[in-house]
Amino acid sequence: MLLPMSSQNVIQYLQEAGLCSSENTTLDQTELPERNKKNYNLLVTLADNRKLLIKQECSLENHETSHELFNEWLFHQLLQQFPVIGNISAIAPLVLHFDEENSILVRNYFSEYLELEGFYRHNDIFPTEIATVIGTTLAELHRATFQRREYRDFMATAPEGQFRYHFYNPAQGIDSISPEIFGTVPTEALKFYALYQRYESLESAIADLAYEWNPCCLTHNDLKLDNILIHSRWNQLDNCLVRLIDWKACAWGDPAFDLGTLLASYLRIWLSSLVVDPTIELEESLHLAMTPLEVIQPSLLALIRAYLDAFSMILEERQDFIVRIIQFAGLALIHQIQETIKYQKYFDNSNLCMLQIAKNLLTIPEQSVMNIFGVCESEIISPLAKLHKLTQPEKEQQLIRLYYEKTRLRGC
Ligand SMILES: Nc1ncnc2c1ncn2[C@@H]1O[C@H](COP(=O)(O)OP(=O)(O)OP(=O)(O)O)[C@@H](O)[C@H]1O
Ligand SMILES: [Mg+2]
Repeated sequence: MLLPMSSQNVIQYLQEAGLCSSENTTLDQTELPERNKKNYNLLVTLADNRKLLIKQECSLENHETSHELFNEWLFHQLLQQFPVIGNISAIAPLVLHFDEENSILVRNYFSEYLELEGFYRHNDIFPTEIATVIGTTLAELHRATFQRREYRDFMATAPEGQFRYHFYNPAQGIDSISPEIFGTVPTEALKFYALYQRYESLESAIADLAYEWNPCCLTHNDLKLDNILIHSRWNQLDNCLVRLIDWKACAWGDPAFDLGTLLASYLRIWLSSLVVDPTIELEESLHLAMTPLEVIQPSLLALIRAYLDAFSMILEERQDFIVRIIQFAGLALIHQIQETIKYQKYFDNSNLCMLQIAKNLLTIPEQSVMNIFGVCESEIISPLAKLHKLTQPEKEQQLIRLYYEKTRLRGC
């Protein structure tokens, strides 16, 4: 990285890159808060009221970058080259400029859109039409790229001078624990690591999930509610209610992973609203939630049904699809707890409840389908089965697994 971006040099940079003229001076510059210290983000409002988001990847310890912004740029190029997905309005290109040498990416910033996570939390309403649009959009991306080699090869392009490992398997447990952990995480968080290690069934379920991981289409790979924008006048529009952003992790992957990550992000609204106290049992806490699961459930069901309606073929190919989604949701909750500990240095009893729920999702997924969606798997599928003449998934023979294979390593 040659040029550290700052509010002092950003305008000159934008002018030299041809993104604004010398007459088009700025009205305002705001540094966006860093969520995880990976990127420096600057929001610039130009005199013509256009807003640009400038992102620069921070160097890692050895002065290298993780090439996440390169990946987002690559996805942007893919949208240009393959209009089948470039024309999906919720995915439409946002990136204006990429400077590989300085790891700088410039995006159009939509001030009329709100972050969906904030929208849900502030309004405490969960209109099913929003979840339906998200389900349909995601299905369109997965369906259009399903088993299509040209998309897989395109996203396998490596940055200049680099080697790209194919297919990162995201079904990984938490990082290995070393004695340094005592100095780096808050004391309360040690409980999380102790419990995680104690639950053998959890480790085995994650290893199974890694083994069954089935990369077959383009996936977003970080589909949380804060990477989805909703139009501020969503209830007056027919089109483009939502936009999926932040494609830094996009890759060839397993569609169940995207749905699981999204499901977990919805579940976190419920789980972070629990009333927790050492004297209250988990069951009671769950019932005392400020945003009960029942309020979110119609959106969860609308999301999955809209997805399967638009991409019913996935059920023919993957009989265990819904169970895998549930397990990936459990894994995403575990990763979320770990991120909170790592970046916010925080852990409390509500995270303990979250771990308990995550464990259930991973280790007893069939039972959890009913708990999460409020209906069983066949009831999720049956309205669609009638429509698409699908065969209901047959139950796998109940064989006892005598051993489990170790989680595959990255890139294998
Ligand atoms: N094009 C856009 N239009 C409107 N808001 C946006 C746009 N891009 C980003 N945002 C807002 O800025 C937030 C941060 O953007 P982004 O998701 O790219 O970075 P991040 O998740 O904070 O990660 P990092 O800083 O590591 O890149 C988003 O969650 C969203 O609220
Ligand atoms: Mg983001």
